[in-house]
Amino acid sequence: MGNPTKPVTTQDFIRMKQAGRAIAVLTAYDFPTARILDEIGIDAVLVGDSANMVFYGEPSTLSITVDQMIYHTRAVARAVKRALVIADMPFMSYQVNADEALRNAGRFLKETGATAVKMEGGLPILPTIRRTIEAGIPVMGHIGLVPQSIHRFGGYGVRGRTAEERTFLKESAIALEDAGCFSMVLEAIPADFASEISQSIKIPTIGIGAGVGCDGQVLVTNDLLGLFEDFQPKFVRRYAELAQTMREAFARYVQDVRDRKFPSDDESYS
Ligand code: KIV
Repeated sequence: MGNPTKPVTTQDFIRMKQAGRAIAVLTAYDFPTARILDEIGIDAVLVGDSANMVFYGEPSTLSITVDQMIYHTRAVARAVKRALVIADMPFMSYQVNADEALRNAGRFLKETGATAVKMEGGLPILPTIRRTIEAGIPVMGHIGLVPQSIHRFGGYGVRGRTAEERTFLKESAIALEDAGCFSMVLEAIPADFASEISQSIKIPTIGIGAGVGCDGQVLVTNDLLGLFEDFQPKFVRRYAELAQTMREAFARYVQDVRDRKFPSDDESYS
């Protein structure tokens, strides 16, 4: 579990929860970011379909394809030696039926080197999740705010504020555990309720906007680095201001070129 050289497994996730060790997860979509995350000892790298927004500049996660996600997951998995690599199944790659879902989930394991896949949704997609796990593919669930259903709910608001939503989320969490998921993301859920869910199941919950009572946390790396500036959800903590750092570096380069200060003699061949 804490071994810095041994690859993290889905079983380690469950052991970390049992040991009360909080699980740290971040997203990555490219080789260099994934390599740095792995080097600093992140527990898992999620190749999120958030790539569609923060990498491709699309307004939602909906239009990213399986082929695009495979391309990004392959780059990430190539960089990672220790962390668990989890690939996000894109919208409509698992919703049609369990056969298609299994075929697509299988592609992620066969073609990328990822260890597990993530699917959004609770009770309604249980048969698909069960079928995928029975085929030997570990599945991370994802309930609460599920961005692939944005048009059904009409916004990215907090889930689990009504009794009806709470019942659905609690039953979904228990059902995901029963189906064999090794963990689940809880997104945008009131902290006290996310904590209650976390305590009611044995598999770890990984929170995003769900408070400190979850068994681990995940953020979109571009948010944490201050690289995605279009909007900042309440739950994001920015650990750097890389967009500003990049602006300053690029502007200095442009100025140096225009002033004929780059390249210097040292940076030139004689
Ligand atoms: O796509 C993603 O990055 C995610 C995380 C925000 C959990 O699903």
